[in-house]
Amino acid sequence: MSDFSERIEKELVSFLPESENENVKTLISSMSYSLTAGGKRVRPMLAAEFAKICGGSEDAVIPFACAIEMIHTYSLIHDDLPCMDNDDLRRGKPTNHKVYGEATALLAGNGLLTHAFGTLVSDRALALNGAEKCAKAVRVLAEYSGADGMLGGQMIDLENEGKSVGADSLKIMDIKKTGALMVAACQLGCISAGADETKIEAATEYAENIGLAFQIIDDILDVTSSTELLGKPVGSDNENDKSTYVALLGIDECRRISKELTEKAVNSLSAFDGDTKVLEDFAYYLLNRDK
Ligand code: IPE
Ligand code: IPE
Ligand code: MG
Ligand code: MG
Ligand code: MG
Repeated sequence: MSDFSERIEKELVSFLPESENENVKTLISSMSYSLTAGGKRVRPMLAAEFAKICGGSEDAVIPFACAIEMIHTYSLIHDDLPCMDNDDLRRGKPTNHKVYGEATALLAGNGLLTHAFGTLVSDRALALNGAEKCAKAVRVLAEYSGADGMLGGQMIDLENEGKSVGADSLKIMDIKKTGALMVAACQLGCISAGADETKIEAATEYAENIGLAFQIIDDILDVTSSTELLGKPVGSDNENDKSTYVALLGIDECRRISKELTEKAVNSLSAFDGDTKVLEDFAYYLLNRDK
């Protein structure tokens, strides 16, 4: 495990809320269950790397990196609920609602969502980044996780179940449901480092392209991988009659598109003066991942 991966696991735990009340403790333990279950931590990694290539510090971006992972984890808890994708396994463990029940899982998702914004304006975030950057971070995270961002994408995903949908519409769905949180992660890194608009735009282009590729690969793995490797059920999309690129275009064409998107993402890194090798490699790691 890299130093950053080890650090982010500890930092995520350190940001969890505390309570003396037994019932509240159950809620916090449900939040903690999903947050500490592992996962690739792709979004914190993106936030940290963009902060670094824009001349910022890892310490300062940590609260922002933890906030985006809280939002992502909440989106997964809700995505797995019986009223959504109805899945029983996540990050190699029974899904939140299987352990804590649906009502607590709903509250745990809401708890992580709310706490993410608290984390962006926590004493630590404010001391390391200043009020102006924290305010910008709140605006960005709200925009990309909200109704016209991740949530909008999830709504389109549900509405598209059982329908034949064209590639252009699937692109909009995937850029929102998955690309949006990647964009937020990269922008949060830039904001923490005080990067200018040109760099934020280039980071956004990188994130949209890897984000779309990421969802297409996720859809491929849902067909080609194993539950054991993924830590979540394969065949979920087919079972739910989801409209995906894979269902529309087949696996080979999807692999070609994802590669093209990854190359596009890597090209947008030319806007940065720093060493972009880590972000280049990361884009290819996400493309070639098997989980
Ligand atoms: C899964 O995201 C949900 C999608 C957006 C496709 P990840 O593949 O990043 O899940 P974890 O965080 O590693 O569990
Ligand atoms: C989920 O897409 C995107 C989210 C915003 C959570 P999927 O429904 O394909 O994600 P998995 O496959 O369950 O992780
Ligand atoms: Mg889903
Ligand atoms: Mg799902
Ligand atoms: Mg999936």
